[in-house]
Amino acid sequence: MGVTEELDRLYGEALGAIEAAGDLAGLDAVRVSVLGKKGSLTQVLKGLGALSAEERPIAGKVANEVRATIEQALESRKSLLEQDALAAQFTAQAVDVTLPGRGRPVGSRHLISAITAEVIEIFLGLGYQVAEGPQVELDYYNFTALNHTPQHPARAATDTFYVRDMTGKGFDGSVPSDALLRTHTSPVQVRAMEKQDPPIYILAPGRVYRRDIADPSHLPQFTQIEGLVVDEGITFADLKGTLDHVVKAIFGSERKTRFRPHFFPFTEPSAEVDVSCGICDGKGCRFCKQTGWLEILGCGMVDPNVFGYVDIDPERYTGFAFGLGIERIAALKYNIPDLRMLVEGDMRFLRQF
Ligand code: DAH
Repeated sequence: MGVTEELDRLYGEALGAIEAAGDLAGLDAVRVSVLGKKGSLTQVLKGLGALSAEERPIAGKVANEVRATIEQALESRKSLLEQDALAAQFTAQAVDVTLPGRGRPVGSRHLISAITAEVIEIFLGLGYQVAEGPQVELDYYNFTALNHTPQHPARAATDTFYVRDMTGKGFDGSVPSDALLRTHTSPVQVRAMEKQDPPIYILAPGRVYRRDIADPSHLPQFTQIEGLVVDEGITFADLKGTLDHVVKAIFGSERKTRFRPHFFPFTEPSAEVDVSCGICDGKGCRFCKQTGWLEILGCGMVDPNVFGYVDIDPERYTGFAFGLGIERIAALKYNIPDLRMLVEGDMRFLRQF
């Protein structure tokens, strides 16, 4: 076979292979097999030197044309395959904008936070300010300055969590430790009165801790809101009016309140406040143990001894204080049978509020 025929055959074969290449890798293999160092066309071109002087220019011209055409065919097939590849990629990555959206779970405020905010809102409307104190508290603020005797049972290690550092001492080096997890929000009263002269109108929400085993009506960690008012001329009537208003704002204006004498070391006189049972409307049922009433908070007139610890003149100022448990209010308001449900984090329960 002469060189021209050989080139002709090669040409036809190459164009066929280019046409048949299904992807870019296949096409590149064809390129190498024809134009590569050991490619079929390269071999023929190498042989041109052996031809006679008449044959060489003719064969050379044909060979160059063949090479140019093959290169062109490779180029155009390549851009076609590239377009195909891109189109395939687009199809694979296509987003169907007509599909319905995937819903994202939206969080909500925990019931305890919601009620805390609700109570704060009521008191902000009465001119109170929010105050805060530490959850790791000193015995002095939690007990002593609140007029607890050294032997008061609430100080017992069976009732209160005491906090020690790594050396087993209290944070101020005391042994036994006088740092503890506050058992109520009342220490914030003392801190507020230390910091600020009357008039004082504060509300102190926060976590408190007691060594109780969790059961339907107890949690070792729960939430209280403390209130404190110190001003000239404050009487028990102010306390009653304020708490009656607050209880009605929380539970509804049809509910009644009742004040029962009680004892707290830091108030004198002291009382517990009951709200009329919302289930039986005060007639008596299982929920209120047939009494018609549900206990919701403790309160009283600030004991002059407490004023003594913070240098407030009891001849000039009087005050009242109260403390209410948010978990208990939540349970009463929404008939929650077990306080543990509030801390278990079960979304099916929590989402209802
Ligand atoms: N600290 C009390 C408790 O945890 C609640 C309380 C009662 C707070 C009377 C007060 C108060 O401020 O005056 O049981």
